[in-house]
Amino acid sequence: MNPLNHVAIIMDGNGRWGLKYKSSRNEGHKAGLNTVEKIIKESIKQKINFLTLYAFSTENWNRPKKEIDYLFNLLEYFLSQKIDDLHKKDIKLNIIGIKNFSKKLNKLLNFSEQKTSKNTTLQINLALNYGSKFEILDSVKKMKRNNDKINEKNLSKYLQTKNIPDPEILIRTGNTKRLSNFLLWQLAYSEIFFEKKLWPDFNEKDYIRIIKKFKKIKRNFGNI
Ligand code: FPP
Repeated sequence: MNPLNHVAIIMDGNGRWGLKYKSSRNEGHKAGLNTVEKIIKESIKQKINFLTLYAFSTENWNRPKKEIDYLFNLLEYFLSQKIDDLHKKDIKLNIIGIKNFSKKLNKLLNFSEQKTSKNTTLQINLALNYGSKFEILDSVKKMKRNNDKINEKNLSKYLQTKNIPDPEILIRTGNTKRLSNFLLWQLAYSEIFFEKKLWPDFNEKDYIRIIKKFKKIKRNFGNI
């Protein structure tokens, strides 16, 4: 059985779900937050050590301001209401991406990271204003600046996921088969599961089904 340490998820389909059931994309994001909580709980049950969630990409800034504001308000609500609970559950919150949000949100993100920094049961990497091409380029620039040898080990060292093992699994919900500039380096050998369900409809059963399937896959890593 394959060991499982790290699951990465592209939580796609909130907008479509919201339009379909509530005539509002934002309602889909609200419903998506419930799924986030379910998957966090199940990850702990499954003894997964790292969960990386794509919450906002560098390209998502192109959305209408009203939707962007809603998403960040939702994030603020989530952190201010739930950080104590996450901390009690021994969850560590780590932000990947560029933290250039409002002063208030940056402060809340830094506070949440600091408060949970020593926790070890589950590390949640929340990808916010994250873009993988930027991350890789930035890493190359840092190698050059520090006169490091250009190799895989050094490139990985400057990624925002340094010290985090690569994900064994990527899940993308929402019936779309693309990577959308997410962890392009780190996913080189991950098993990818594209799910038809929209993120708010995704549940623990779907998650467990994927985990079970993954555990039985013969992983070759280029070998035979
Ligand atoms: C993609 O669906 C989802 C997002 C851009 C936001 C993800 C946010 C959440 C799951 C809720 C908030 C999470 C936290 C941690 C506070 P989409 O809007 O692109 O859906 P579509 O493809 O149907 O348009």
